[in-house]
Amino acid sequence: MKHYTSIHDIDHINSWIEDAKALKKEPLKHITLGKNKTLGLLFFNSSLRTRLSTQKAALNLGMNPIVMNVSGDAWGLEFNDGTVMNGNTAEHIKEAAAVVSQYCDIIAVRAFPTLTDKVKDESEQVMSAFKKYASVPIVNMESATGHPLQGLTDALTISEYAKVKKPKVVLSWAPHIKALPHAVGNSFVQAMQKMDVEFVIANPEGYDLNPEITGSTPIYHNQEEAFKDADFVYAKNWSSYENYGKVVNSDPNWMITKAKIGDAKFMHCLPVRRNVVVEDAVLDSDNSLVIEQANNRTYAAQLVLKKILEDS
Ligand code: CP
Repeated sequence: MKHYTSIHDIDHINSWIEDAKALKKEPLKHITLGKNKTLGLLFFNSSLRTRLSTQKAALNLGMNPIVMNVSGDAWGLEFNDGTVMNGNTAEHIKEAAAVVSQYCDIIAVRAFPTLTDKVKDESEQVMSAFKKYASVPIVNMESATGHPLQGLTDALTISEYAKVKKPKVVLSWAPHIKALPHAVGNSFVQAMQKMDVEFVIANPEGYDLNPEITGSTPIYHNQEEAFKDADFVYAKNWSSYENYGKVVNSDPNWMITKAKIGDAKFMHCLPVRRNVVVEDAVLDSDNSLVIEQANNRTYAAQLVLKKILEDS
């Protein structure tokens, strides 16, 4: 595998899940695979889990991780070609990606969307530029439209906790005070579409995700109806796709409550705003998998790095 930038880079999700479970059992089994190899982690945006779990994954493989907060610490990067760079950008991505490639064997990048320029966001300007101008593999640590390390993690977690052969999984929009990206929702949809689950999405009208991603997955605008017989409820907020990046409804009645989900397992990628997205009684119950999910971030990232190291 050259790059991991999308859930579509997973060829056989069930075998990937089994490989991730094996890594979880013996995290240090491949400690020499990444010896003398460097993972560069470039963050254009904040992170807790991705930043730490991806470093931990690298360390478990014997790699040396180096981290940079690009926004603020590095020179302002220019992504457009032919620009007269007499404004705020001091370095072109052509030089930056080529230079970082000399220091690192793999480059992992986090770069969120603008949520104001749909065309720019859908072009995946930052991730695409790194793929184009870096000479080493690129890993997506959450881009404008996808969070494939999270999606793989979520597939692993559902596989671990499923009690029936084909569980019902519901991705539910939940309220938030800010306009949030679609990336986690998109990658979760793509991961579930690859798995043998009964998968539906619940969101208020005006919040349907990109139809090119949701495809034939059923979408309910009635949360109660969607939650019927659910084994897993995955909550996430996202802003409107149709009215791009806007908060068109923040109906608190969509908050996830214990009464609504019953015995279903609760999932969220974190960070989560308590009693806005989901009530305390859910997060503090035995049905919440959020901590287990966050733990699995390490093994999802470790599997991705392992596959890239083995192919390079
Ligand atoms: N879920 C997730 O990506 O968490 P961070 O934003 O803290 O990395």
